[in-house]
Amino acid sequence: MIFGKQLMPLVIKMSKRQLNDFEAFRKVLSQSKNIVALTGAGVSAESGIPTFRGEGGLWRKYRSADLATPHAFYTKPHLVWEFYHYRRTIAFNAQPNDAHKALAKYEKLCEEQGHKFNIITQNVDGLHTKAGSRNVIELHGALHKVVCTNVKCGTVAENFDDPICEALRGRGDPMVREDLPMIDKKDLPKCKKCSGLLRPYIVWFGENLDPDILQQARDLVEECDICLVIGTSSVVYPAAMFAPLVAERGKPVAEFNLTEEPASDLFQFHFPGPCGSTLPRALNIQI
Ligand code: OAD
Repeated sequence: MIFGKQLMPLVIKMSKRQLNDFEAFRKVLSQSKNIVALTGAGVSAESGIPTFRGEGGLWRKYRSADLATPHAFYTKPHLVWEFYHYRRTIAFNAQPNDAHKALAKYEKLCEEQGHKFNIITQNVDGLHTKAGSRNVIELHGALHKVVCTNVKCGTVAENFDDPICEALRGRGDPMVREDLPMIDKKDLPKCKKCSGLLRPYIVWFGENLDPDILQQARDLVEECDICLVIGTSSVVYPAAMFAPLVAERGKPVAEFNLTEEPASDLFQFHFPGPCGSTLPRALNIQI
């Protein structure tokens, strides 16, 4: 995963920007047969899940970029597991909001009409699936999955246990000022097959995305005839280049975000505001 503010050197023919033009957007959407929604942390903000770069982006004194790394896990696996235990608990207790629900309902409508509708999400909270969406590509992994760090095993498994191990019970409080006593490595989550140390099935900074998942996402981006960019700052690659690539092909892109982001100028439609309100309206979905 690459992080950066600069955009790829794409040659994009700028279209006239349309602000809050729900009618024009719906017309374009109704003519589309292959739709991709690219989502980021903002789509889950109204479900109470903190975004990465806004307020609440810190856990204790750490930025998530300090803990979501292989180096942090290698040197302080107990701390990284505490952080992920906290995030798992929030995600497992969170409920899909109106934006997730609208996307799930829209997918069903598309199915009935024989149209393609896919979500590519950078989120790891599983809320799209909880809302009923089925065509979801989880680019950055999932909090409810774990992978064994034993290279001879490497098993990926679903795990919804909360806490995932006894040693993490009552841990993960983000407000604690000092690091708590270290949890012994032997008490951290273990693989059910080989007893190797488990880690969250998350793509960390400095790691590559699963090539198959990335290829699936790229294919969707190359084939779609409209793209919805929802609640993402569009600064983490490769996801950050997906919507600009659609715009480069001359296809409409609609952005749903609280604010302007570095890539916003490249997109045709803009719906400022919380996507729990703007998205159902744009998709013409009653929740
Ligand atoms: P960010 O935290 O960078 O951006 C969240 C975006 O959502 C911002 O542009 C906000 O303005 C917007 N936003 C917040 N609340 C919103 C709302 N109610 N409605 C609409 N928009 C809203 O999150 P991402 O772009 O998802 O990777 O970050 C990308 C990746 O960076 C994450 O997947 C994560 C992180 O490193 C991993 O952890 C692997």
